[in-house]
Amino acid sequence: MHDATAVAPSDAAQADAFCLPDGIVYLDTATHGPCLRVVQQAAQRALDEGVAPWRLGDADWEASIERVRALAADCFDGDTDAVALVPSAAYGIAIAARNLPLARGEAVLVTAGAFPSQVLAWQQRCHVVGARLLEARQLPGESASDAVLRELDSDSTIRVLSLAHVDWRDGSVLDLDRIAAHARARGVALVLDLSQSLGALPARIARWKPAFAVSVGYKWLLGPGGMAYLWVDPSWRARGIPIEQHWLARDPVAVWRGDAQRPAAWRPGARRFDAGGVADPQRLAMAEAALQQVARWQIERIAPALRARTAALASALRAQGLSSWLAPDAQAHILGVRPPVARLDAIVAALAQAGVVTAVRQGCVRLAPHLHVGVESAGMVSDVFDGVARG
Ligand SMILES: Cc1ncc(COP(=O)(O)O)c(C=O)c1O
Repeated sequence: MHDATAVAPSDAAQADAFCLPDGIVYLDTATHGPCLRVVQQAAQRALDEGVAPWRLGDADWEASIERVRALAADCFDGDTDAVALVPSAAYGIAIAARNLPLARGEAVLVTAGAFPSQVLAWQQRCHVVGARLLEARQLPGESASDAVLRELDSDSTIRVLSLAHVDWRDGSVLDLDRIAAHARARGVALVLDLSQSLGALPARIARWKPAFAVSVGYKWLLGPGGMAYLWVDPSWRARGIPIEQHWLARDPVAVWRGDAQRPAAWRPGARRFDAGGVADPQRLAMAEAALQQVARWQIERIAPALRARTAALASALRAQGLSSWLAPDAQAHILGVRPPVARLDAIVAALAQAGVVTAVRQGCVRLAPHLHVGVESAGMVSDVFDGVARG
């Protein structure tokens, strides 16, 4: 019997859930998730309803904020109180940098070449307090995870580890089970950027115990831009200070009393970190539709289905004799292909000519399919690489 909820390696119904134009093979979820039909419909409905904004009552609006929060929480650890709605990954990292203790002479460790949103807030904080920003740089043949562990072992001044689960350039996956256990044993706070993994890999929050973990909503969570989700550890939910002081983060009765001498109490949990302007009705509607779809498909099932797609791409490239082009670190739902520099422009041109949409990041062609792409596309994509390799 067909299981309606299962995510198969190739499934026409799942492919049909997306509204991509014909004639292209979209392999760039790592830049922006492909648009779901339900998200497009939700956006249109919200736009139509927006012609009469007075019909949207405060209670309905707040209820939609809480529905999005609960659905996002299900992608972390299911705790609705743990999640704040913020506009970007950078904003979430800035909240971590604003709150975690760091003193002169201490250090923050990031990976070399990390996405700027993960680095810039720490640069600033380190500059202000006189701390150092260290980069874990891989030695030849060393994995990124081993480079992080080596740095952690070699410098006892490290207080914060700020890491992306999945690398934005080539999709390599950090071994967070090992790294988190190591950091915890040394009393080092962990800050996670899950922007390239939440929705595509399970987030083992209970195992990793980060202080803060953030993800954008527009990549593997298939939602709109301007909506990111920040998971906050219970202790920071109780004492953390947000970047802005937005009224939405405060007890509504107290805040509208307007008593400047008596700060209004925070809303419970991570809501104190909710940012202003994010909870726009159209964005909420799109985020809710996207997160509902992810919940129906289930991240535990999406992960192997995406893995089947990148594995098919990798084995098709291996069959063409291009194993040496594949990024060496552990890979999951993003496949990094690193051709010789002299071939890169020709490959980019050939992929574009064949209607294959990819992104190139620091010399690496990033292949990032979602469920709209069947494993059977792998042969066609690898033929494009092979054509250039032989040309
Ligand atoms: C690892 C990673 N973090 C964060 C982001 C986006 O950050 P922000 O929301 O600050 O623009 C990206 C976007 O590509 C990314 O790859």
